[in-house]
Amino acid sequence: MRERIWVPPLLLLLPLLLPPPLGDYEQAVRDLEAALRSHRRLREIRARCARHCAVRRPLAPPCSGPGAELPFFRSLLQRARCYRSCETQRLGGPASRHRVSEDVRSDFQRRVPYNYLQRAYIKLNQLEKAVEAAHTFFMANPEHMEMQQNIENYRTMAGVAAFQLVDREARPHLESYSVGVKHYEADNFEVAIKYFEQALREYFNEDMECRILCEGPQRFEEYEYLGYKGGLHEAIADHYMQVLVCQHECVRELATRPGRLSPIENFLPLHYDYLQFAYYRVGEYVKALECAKAYLLCHPDDEDVLDNVHYYESLLDDDIDPASIEAREDMMMFVKRHQLESELIQSAAEGLGFSYTEPLTGKLPDVLWLPPWEDRGSREDSVLVPSGGPLLYENITFVYNSEQLNGTQRVLLDNVLSEDQCRELHSVASFGYEGRVPLKSARLFYDISEKARKIVESYFMLNSTLYFSYTHMVCRTALSGQQDRRNDLSHPIHADNCLLDPEANECWKEPPAYTFRDYSALLYMNDDFEGGEFIFTEMDAKTVTASIKPKCGRMISFSSGGENPHGVKAVTKGQRCAVALWFTLDPLYRELVLVCAGGHQLHPTSSSAASAVYPQLYGFRVRSPGLCPVDDADSFSGEGGKRQEEADFPLAKCHSKDST
Ligand SMILES: *[C@@H]1O[C@H](CO)[C@@H](O)[C@H](O)[C@H]1NC(C)=O
Ligand SMILES: *[C@@H]1O[C@H](CO)[C@@H](O)[C@H](O)[C@H]1NC(C)=O
Ligand SMILES: *[C@@H]1O[C@H](CO)[C@@H](O)[C@H](O)[C@H]1NC(C)=O
Repeated sequence: MRERIWVPPLLLLLPLLLPPPLGDYEQAVRDLEAALRSHRRLREIRARCARHCAVRRPLAPPCSGPGAELPFFRSLLQRARCYRSCETQRLGGPASRHRVSEDVRSDFQRRVPYNYLQRAYIKLNQLEKAVEAAHTFFMANPEHMEMQQNIENYRTMAGVAAFQLVDREARPHLESYSVGVKHYEADNFEVAIKYFEQALREYFNEDMECRILCEGPQRFEEYEYLGYKGGLHEAIADHYMQVLVCQHECVRELATRPGRLSPIENFLPLHYDYLQFAYYRVGEYVKALECAKAYLLCHPDDEDVLDNVHYYESLLDDDIDPASIEAREDMMMFVKRHQLESELIQSAAEGLGFSYTEPLTGKLPDVLWLPPWEDRGSREDSVLVPSGGPLLYENITFVYNSEQLNGTQRVLLDNVLSEDQCRELHSVASFGYEGRVPLKSARLFYDISEKARKIVESYFMLNSTLYFSYTHMVCRTALSGQQDRRNDLSHPIHADNCLLDPEANECWKEPPAYTFRDYSALLYMNDDFEGGEFIFTEMDAKTVTASIKPKCGRMISFSSGGENPHGVKAVTKGQRCAVALWFTLDPLYRELVLVCAGGHQLHPTSSSAASAVYPQLYGFRVRSPGLCPVDDADSFSGEGGKRQEEADFPLAKCHSKDST
């Protein structure tokens, strides 16, 4: 019997569908925690039942002659009955109670309940739990900079920096692996072995669960199931292919940190790579050999490991025949199954018109040792790019180059704007958000943006045209009230074209980051405020490497990648305004959005004038007003995370990609 997967879900959804009366945070905490517990328990029970029934009801091979298929189908039916009675016993009630909609499933996947939880705990003044929930959410949503700020704020509020950051949904195999790598790098090979072995056990365990969860109900696009008319074999084939592909991708799923799209490259094989050397270092040559050979199953041409195999073989006692030592069994079985699955998927793709492409690369699967994102490598390329080209305009003063700014691909210039221009822009920034801007100011805005673009293109010696990707004006104003001893940030540390992952010391160039941005520039127009320094940090998002005080006509520009994490310190008095510009070398992503000043488009006094004037002024299409959504990050991160000062023009997030 087929069941709709969005049958009202009593078990999980109840707490979320029926929010408590406004502000009943205790009830909210109780319900949210119960939902999380029940989510976990459901998963455990499914896994346990599947394991139990697989052992108890093995599938029988078909025999020959009339009714040859009956033993197979009988065993299949028995297994289904086993599942049903196992789950009913442990969960009670009909199975439909435990099914939820895709939306809820995806909320749990993205750890959204923890976002509500951190807010509720803060209201109840339970700081430690709030930090825990915030951290757990943040681990799966690393681009959520406001949450990072919340965590810092909570820690400051609690007056302790020493809260252990606990990830309540930490996945054991990833944790053990990381600890293993740490010990390995510190040459503690004995301990490293212990953790890698544990990581592998946890990996295979997790792999089994992942596969079991793939065996859920068949998925249909919304209402398509109504018209679905597959016959017996077709229906089985359709459902089975869904399950198989899902299971086949567990290798990617398990190698992917929460909240990421890209897996850790070569994740599973790396365990054996570390292990082979660690075992060698502690004198266990047989095990070293087994692990080296396990690694070679995935990378048969790896010369270093091939050399190691020869060397380890030479170290064996004379009475051991090197040829008798095989790749480790766990990996051998894994690879064998993986290859069979690949073959099956490929043949289904050919024979059944079933289409399967790698979700990330768009390629057909080969042996899935996790092809990296195609542009992953480009992070390293920026190191040797030249800079120091002419500044083009006579009055501009060169202040610091990359070296003086303690980084790469950075430059600081002064006098990019005149005093008059600063004044005019500042007044537009301060008062312009009524949506009415004198045409003269719009013209100025265009001129200075274009000037900045030309300077960046020339200084960094770019050989192809640099296009605007996005431009806006942003002001930050200190809130009145207590400003003593503030050391928080007005704009948290981030990179412009990748998701900064301070823990992993990586910057992931993948959506939702604006991966197509190549250069960034900030142009300042005033200095009559306190705080508000622009800072560069290391990848750890903590160690400040350079700090710049804005002033009229000053421009900082830098490449947009992980080499340039940056942020803005809190504005403690007055208002700080800047024009932020992002550029791209890819014409596909050139700006179609013109000027978004915080959800308000700068446009001339008459809207018909806008369409008439802008195209010829700017040479490209103008979006109609109102398409610049105001960043709703605050509503998401809750009051606890409300910035200490308000951006008068909240950062507009106009994705020029979707307007092409
Ligand atoms: C350079 O500065 C001088 C004097 O301040 C001014 O007259 C001139 O217009 C400026 N040139 C440019 C291109 O801004
Ligand atoms: C631009 O071209 C010059 C000369 O061909 C080359 O030396 C330089 O590296 C190029 N710049 C970039 C950013 O590729
Ligand atoms: C660069 O680093 C040096 C040494 O830490 C520091 O004195 C200097 O202020 C830094 N440069 C900037 C622009 O902050």
